[in-house]
Amino acid sequence: MTEAQAILAHVEAGVLTLTFNRLDKKNAITTAMYTSLADALVEASTDSAVRVVVIQGHEQIFTAGNDLADFRNNPPSTDADKPVPVFRFLEALRTFPKPVVAAVCGPAVGIGTTLLLHCDLVYAGDNAAFSLPFVNLGLCPEAGASLLLPALVGYPRAAEKLLLGEAFYAEEAVDMGLVNRILPPHEVAGYAQAQALKLAAKPTESLRITKALMKQAHPSLPSVMQQEFKHFGELLRGPAAKEAISAVMEKRRPDFSKL
Ligand code: COA
Repeated sequence: MTEAQAILAHVEAGVLTLTFNRLDKKNAITTAMYTSLADALVEASTDSAVRVVVIQGHEQIFTAGNDLADFRNNPPSTDADKPVPVFRFLEALRTFPKPVVAAVCGPAVGIGTTLLLHCDLVYAGDNAAFSLPFVNLGLCPEAGASLLLPALVGYPRAAEKLLLGEAFYAEEAVDMGLVNRILPPHEVAGYAQAQALKLAAKPTESLRITKALMKQAHPSLPSVMQQEFKHFGELLRGPAAKEAISAVMEKRRPDFSKL
């Protein structure tokens, strides 16, 4: 399978569906996949044939987050003047003017959870498992999660998720306001499509303005995302991330005791 096919893009009845399709690696997202996602969103933002976007994975896995081999071998540049694919994708999602619906089943690791903070509606399978393991990997949050998560769920709960990095599950995600509704995994994609079709039938300009009005609640988001990205890139090159990523790839516990 080529990298380009690792993101499937399909437009039907005004709905662009983007599907993570790299099951052998648990839909881990490579640089090439971020480029495909960013390109698809940038094009869709002005394409009148696209009125709504759905982002989905597979019934057993949404995404294992950033590809760890990519993290180790090609850590993204932190130069703000040369946006790297992951940042292009996050910016395209943050500024996307049309509704975005996410369908999440199974693990949604790292950016698999943080990208949901930028979606408008999120539907989850009862097998969904969300995690923000940045600290455990010697990293820090990205995608504006350090701003958006405390705003959504309050500081103590955000601190629990971001400092401990333990997985949490569908019911808690609904309780936190991260997920709209839980369904059996085999119904999630169909339900997300049905909701997307409802949105696609609505007046686009009203949707655009309503979304833009709600999104302006966080004027500092672009600057927070830049700051996170700078720290993230520096941490990724540091000893803790090197040890943590090697440990995951070698299926052993990391040892931070000498750091
Ligand atoms: N990057 C690259 N490869 C990954 C990956 C990632 N983020 N996550 C999983 N894979 C690969 C594994 O290395 C394995 O490859 P192999 O078959 O060539 O050995 C394959 O996907 C299957 O993974 P496995 O861990 O056996 O699947 P699982 O069902 O037991 O667990 C996860 C699924 C997602 C819970 C687990 O893979 C995981 O925790 N991955 C790491 C997630 C992570 O730390 N992401 C970074 C977030 S910032």
